[in-house]
Amino acid sequence: MCGIIGYCGQKPAVPIILEALKRLEYRGYDSAGIACLCDGKLLIEKDAGKVDEIIRKRSLADVPGNVAIGHTRWATHGAVTQVNAHPHSDCSGSAAVVHNGIIENSEQLRQELTRMGHRFTSETDTEVIPHLLEDEIKNGLSLEQAVLNIAPKLEGSYAFLVASLNDPGKIIGTRRNNPLVVGIDAPDYYVSSDALAFSPYTNQVMSLEDNEVVVLAAGKVEFFDARGNKLVKQARQLDHTWTENHKGSYQHFMLKEIMEQAQVLDQTIHQDEKTFNTIALDILRARQVIITACGSSRYAALVGRYLFSRVGKRFCDVVMASEFGYFADSVDKNTVVIAVSQSGETADVVDGVKAARAAEAQVISIINRPNSILADLSHQVIHLNCGPEMAVAATKSFLSQLAIFYLLSFAMVNAFEEAAAKLTDLSSELTRVLDWNKSELIRLSRTLKDKSDFYYIARGINFAIASEGALKLKEISYIHAEGMPAGELKHGTLALIGPGTPVVVVCPADYTFSETLSNAIEAKTRGAYIIGVSDRESDVYDSWIKIPQVDELLYPMVAVVPLHLLAYYLAINRGCDPDRPRNLAKSVTVK
Ligand code: F6R
Repeated sequence: MCGIIGYCGQKPAVPIILEALKRLEYRGYDSAGIACLCDGKLLIEKDAGKVDEIIRKRSLADVPGNVAIGHTRWATHGAVTQVNAHPHSDCSGSAAVVHNGIIENSEQLRQELTRMGHRFTSETDTEVIPHLLEDEIKNGLSLEQAVLNIAPKLEGSYAFLVASLNDPGKIIGTRRNNPLVVGIDAPDYYVSSDALAFSPYTNQVMSLEDNEVVVLAAGKVEFFDARGNKLVKQARQLDHTWTENHKGSYQHFMLKEIMEQAQVLDQTIHQDEKTFNTIALDILRARQVIITACGSSRYAALVGRYLFSRVGKRFCDVVMASEFGYFADSVDKNTVVIAVSQSGETADVVDGVKAARAAEAQVISIINRPNSILADLSHQVIHLNCGPEMAVAATKSFLSQLAIFYLLSFAMVNAFEEAAAKLTDLSSELTRVLDWNKSELIRLSRTLKDKSDFYYIARGINFAIASEGALKLKEISYIHAEGMPAGELKHGTLALIGPGTPVVVVCPADYTFSETLSNAIEAKTRGAYIIGVSDRESDVYDSWIKIPQVDELLYPMVAVVPLHLLAYYLAINRGCDPDRPRNLAKSVTVK
């Protein structure tokens, strides 16, 4: 939900923090702030707005000092205002805290602290942390001991960093159920929610387990467990693909991520066949298989469900992660739960997986971001390998998830290699689909930009692609959109379709074609404007988005690409920023 970063070393800290905040903006972008220790002073600068605006407004770039922390916010507790932006401080103004997560008992703590004389200035849950620390420090504790003492009083999830005048030259960090990773480039040290934040400087990282504490100080980094015992950790090297995040010549990350999908597919296919075969066997042997996910990842899972059934002859259910807990009664040790999450930190998915683990189910995760909470909770992990996805809306990660389900379903029938070969051939088709349709999609986005409602329909394996197209449109262009199985249209929604209503019909020339086209005709009869996404032309379409003819189980992959691009161009034509849609964050770490 929020991004945090700390730096302690020999270089000027603030420029590093500001650059890192820009890289962390995918985690939240309604406010940002920094705290810097310099010449016996703690300087805090923060405001509502995007990082670049704040840097300009507050002339942050020239702030001196070698120790600093920073925060980019996605508001949960307290409105988007300058006072609610992080860092937060204590009554004396000697400590600064940046926090990602939610302190669930903050109201109770706030009341207790207020009774004891503390004065609060913001509406945030975070502010209880510096005030709690203030009392511990007054009692003579070191900053790290103070952090260790207050952590058990905090309920909920957090990763936070503290910098204080009482111990200048140090940054203390800790986490529970939220990510925190340390970057090592002695004598320079970094700590952040995501290694991407410090990726230009180092790819040597050390992770923290829940409740562990890290201390960054001049020339050294130390780790402690929850009891204060010193820990020895080994640095790991991050895959270089995780560190590349430039927009290049593209106007937006979303466009770049749509355009680079052919290459992404090639990266995703590089998987360990043995691991896939083992997981496939576990899926086939299980009493039941449940896939759990949210948003786009859930739509990828719905395509996966068809693939499992069609190829592996294995029925499975897909349960929305926020609803998973309500089905936990039927989960047991003979259940395989597959959790799908680009970020690996979506709170609903993490909670579902915890419930599954408690019921002794076997947990397999399909994740993009390395070092995630979900990875730690899973028995087996499949990585998407599609590199960092910087736009808030999922595009390339969605395609990678589809590819993983394709590989898994073929592994169930010992045909992993065949699937990998088919996916390799598909990458050139993805480039083709973009070339063929770019100008028609731009034209459509200009003509349809003022429409208030869009409907997306499809059948069978393509149904989830309709839902994904609709989600993307809502998310970045703020147009109401619904995706549904084409057969459902006549059970109510048809009442909403009138002259000019755009209906996107995903109807490749596969086993779903004729019936889906009949549903399109029903809509057209009511005056709908039909956008056909198909390899087969038809008079029914008012606009034809041409996709190549491919193996019928691969149509979801070629059909989704133009739908993502349509949403992108509609957002642009409506003056929306597709990389940073309102009220959304890349990692949804609240329930
Ligand atoms: C849609 C989108 C969201 C995410 C959802 C799950 O474009 O980005 O709907 O798909 O928040 O996120 P992950 O996959 O990180 O669990």
